[in-house]
Amino acid sequence: MPTLLHIDSSALFEGSVSREVTATFRAEWEAAGGTVVYRDLAANPVPHLSAAGVTSAFLPAEQRDAEQRAAYALRDELVTELEQADAVVIGAPMYNFTVPSSLKAWIDQVVLFGRTAGATKSAAGTPVVVVASRGGSYAAGSPRADFEFATTYLEKTLTELLGLRVDLVVPEFTMAKVNPAMAEFVDAAEASKTKAHQDAAAKAKELAKA
Ligand SMILES: Cc1cc2nc3c(=O)[nH]c(=O)nc-3n(C[C@H](O)[C@H](O)[C@H](O)COP(=O)(O)O)c2cc1C
Repeated sequence: MPTLLHIDSSALFEGSVSREVTATFRAEWEAAGGTVVYRDLAANPVPHLSAAGVTSAFLPAEQRDAEQRAAYALRDELVTELEQADAVVIGAPMYNFTVPSSLKAWIDQVVLFGRTAGATKSAAGTPVVVVASRGGSYAAGSPRADFEFATTYLEKTLTELLGLRVDLVVPEFTMAKVNPAMAEFVDAAEASKTKAHQDAAAKAKELAKA
């Protein structure tokens, strides 16, 4: 049975578009008979990478002190989840032009040189679908295109450092319904959300079969 690593990072539990779209992906995956490992980085945040976490990676196991052993054990647990996944779906809302710090913390933990990153990458080739919800639009040619540091950051990190295969699903204009100044984008928001659900479902079906 193929395994999906499902990660959410929206701080909101109600009305989160990224959570809704990753749930669509997950439902299709499960319908195809796949299993799921779930990490909710808002409900159960992964700690920031500590000095012990950094230094433990450069020491043989027998030379680690108690703090380094504990820090490495967490990195090992998170990395093993990534390595054992046949596919990954990540809910990545845009916060202040980039990803939530909870997601950045997870990335800092799993980019482990000599294992997931470096000359050989232990999760290389694993497909990852990033659901990058955002209140506005940062599409090419839009006034704020240069402010996009969420998908640009994630694409580079997940491909260059970890060797994953990245697909993006981008529900945009999610704030249009609640921000009167964005009223003209309400229809675009609805269309974008519908497409995001369709793309997520199609991608899940395709990957669950692979
Ligand atoms: C702390 C915070 C910062 C945000 N920063 C931005 C931003 O820089 N650009 C933007 O377009 N939307 C921004 N938003 C709006 C969110 O990207 C939008 O509500 C999106 O739908 C969040 O994903 P979610 O629906 O899965 O929670 C921000 C929202 C929050 C809560």
